[in-house]
Amino acid sequence: MEKTYLLALANITNRCNLKCKHCFVFREGTPNTPTKINEMPAEVMVKILKNYKRKHSIFRMLWMGGEPLLRKDVLKLGVKLFQENVIATNGTLPLFNLGSNIKWTISLDGPEEINDMIRGYGSFNKVLSNLNNLTEDFQGDLQCNCTVTNINKDFMEELINILSEETPIRGITFTFYVPKKKDTSEFKWENLKERDSAVKKIITLKKKYPKFILNNNMVLRLLLSQNAMQITNNCPLKKYALPLYLGKKGFEVPFCCYGNDVNCDMCGSWGVFHLAAILKLNPGFPDKLSGPFRKVLPSDIL
Ligand SMILES: C[S@@+](CC[C@H](N)C(=O)[O-])C[C@H]1O[C@@H](n2cnc3c(N)ncnc32)[C@H](O)[C@@H]1O
Ligand code: SF4
Ligand code: SF4
Repeated sequence: MEKTYLLALANITNRCNLKCKHCFVFREGTPNTPTKINEMPAEVMVKILKNYKRKHSIFRMLWMGGEPLLRKDVLKLGVKLFQENVIATNGTLPLFNLGSNIKWTISLDGPEEINDMIRGYGSFNKVLSNLNNLTEDFQGDLQCNCTVTNINKDFMEELINILSEETPIRGITFTFYVPKKKDTSEFKWENLKERDSAVKKIITLKKKYPKFILNNNMVLRLLLSQNAMQITNNCPLKKYALPLYLGKKGFEVPFCCYGNDVNCDMCGSWGVFHLAAILKLNPGFPDKLSGPFRKVLPSDIL
């Protein structure tokens, strides 16, 4: 029998209109080149995804890229395939209505100045303008996903205030930087102990903004240095999520959701720790989904 996955993640295009400095997708050694073959017609791509769905009983899809809004044609057809859909977008292109049960995660990495340093000049204001000019028929859940790194860690409260006061964003999830193996960038922390101060800042903010910050307390504590490697050594995201990246000829499965060049010991992926918390709280999950296991449904995982 084919392996069952709780969710899949599909990069539906290798094109992107931004060049964020921290992006794991465009690292060397990871499938990330747009080609005529992999930029396939929407119908073809959706048919291939349908086969993956059937083979692995996938009910939740995380639509990614590149920038998935460059393939609106794929999104329009694709969201009909899965029970649950999350679209991760840089938010610089206009959002469009795909129904009320779609979860949109909009990426911003700080207030204007620091966000634009990472994600490109002018991108912050484009996102805010799009969020405030949604079409009248727009439905869907709007969240922000912010990647905390060594250079933006002190700007998170300012971002929370802007988002909650000036946009229709409902809440924010913080994910921590996933470095590559030999990372010499300004984004990285030298070790987990050094990252702790940034994690603790978010734990403190969570007390002040308990509803707006969507990461739960237990998940944040798991990220601390005394706990983190117990989780990343046996990564639950690698076990339960199927990553589909576009190689030159079509979908391929890379090492993990973060591509092929990653340093697991320093991984701060929200998805990894969130899933770990659910597994800790529900012994037997996801194999046993009846009885008491109903208290945490797979829909809670991302
Ligand atoms: C790779 S992007 C793809 C979707 C879309 N283009 C976007 O920016 O949201 C998905 C998310 O990964 C985040 N991300 C990029 N590089 C990262 C890294 N090295 N570690 C953790 N998250 C990262 C982005 O900021 C974004 O929120
Ligand atoms: S917008 Fe998304 S895919 Fe594009 S470079 Fe930035 S993080 Fe990477
Ligand atoms: S980089 Fe993170 S998500 Fe990928 S396998 Fe390692 S711990 Fe898991």
